[in-house]
Amino acid sequence: MKTPPSRTLFLSGMDVKVYPDSESAAAAAALLIEQAIVDAGGKRGKAVLGLATGTTPKRVYAHLVDRHRAGALSFRDVSTYNLDEYHPIAPNDPPSYHYYMHEHLFKHVDLAPDRAHVLDGTIPEAFAADHAALFERFIEADSGLDAQLLGIGRNGHIGFNEPCDLSPREAVALKTRLVELHPTTKADAAAEFGSLDRVIPKALTLGIATILSARLIIMLATGGHKAEAVAAALRGPMTAQLPASLLAHAAARVIWLLDPAAARGLDGA
Ligand code: GLP
Repeated sequence: MKTPPSRTLFLSGMDVKVYPDSESAAAAAALLIEQAIVDAGGKRGKAVLGLATGTTPKRVYAHLVDRHRAGALSFRDVSTYNLDEYHPIAPNDPPSYHYYMHEHLFKHVDLAPDRAHVLDGTIPEAFAADHAALFERFIEADSGLDAQLLGIGRNGHIGFNEPCDLSPREAVALKTRLVELHPTTKADAAAEFGSLDRVIPKALTLGIATILSARLIIMLATGGHKAEAVAAALRGPMTAQLPASLLAHAAARVIWLLDPAAARGLDGA
């Protein structure tokens, strides 16, 4: 059942919807993805999704799987591209995003294996730039992303685009590439890897330019630990020190879905 937002805001040109709880925010994200599949399918005969990992989107995938099981949603004419992947990592290693996507979505739905694209954590580092460029070409050849699902790191990262010293203009031009993880990101991944010293310190990530090119960008953030990054990103200014603030560059195509805890820093907005 669809729960309406309890609050709607417009900040830095972006739509922000605050839901009564994290569950209804995740359900709203799943509904937007389903609509994107249906709309793009109707217009072009296929839909192209950008997908995210982490704790936050797990409930989104659970909703999509439920809809598929109910016979209400098919992925037959869908292609997916994931935001990021650790490097180096094997696809059957549980912290890998290949493994995550398989567990939470791919193995439960009728998505063709050759249309479920995740950056390859086994690519030799010397070929990482070629692989990243090829991934971008796949997305372009597929006619671009209809919808990009995003989460936010506590440090404001999107995908694995970490805080950096570039100007906003340079940062919004960043392409898909191999990056070093920020200390906050490594600390947050420690539980997933078992301990901080086992966290893989590099990753492949879709670039900010690639993310911003999506026709719809769905940012889902839940929990009080995201409140500071969410408020700074939505209040602006745009800065590469807080990559999520750069979503304002594509403001008209961005929607933020929050729970009350993640929206806490917006009080008075
Ligand atoms: C990871 C992923 C991001 C994700 C973020 C938040 O670092 N690379 O794409 O958005 O963490 O994850 P969580 O939802 O677990 O808080």
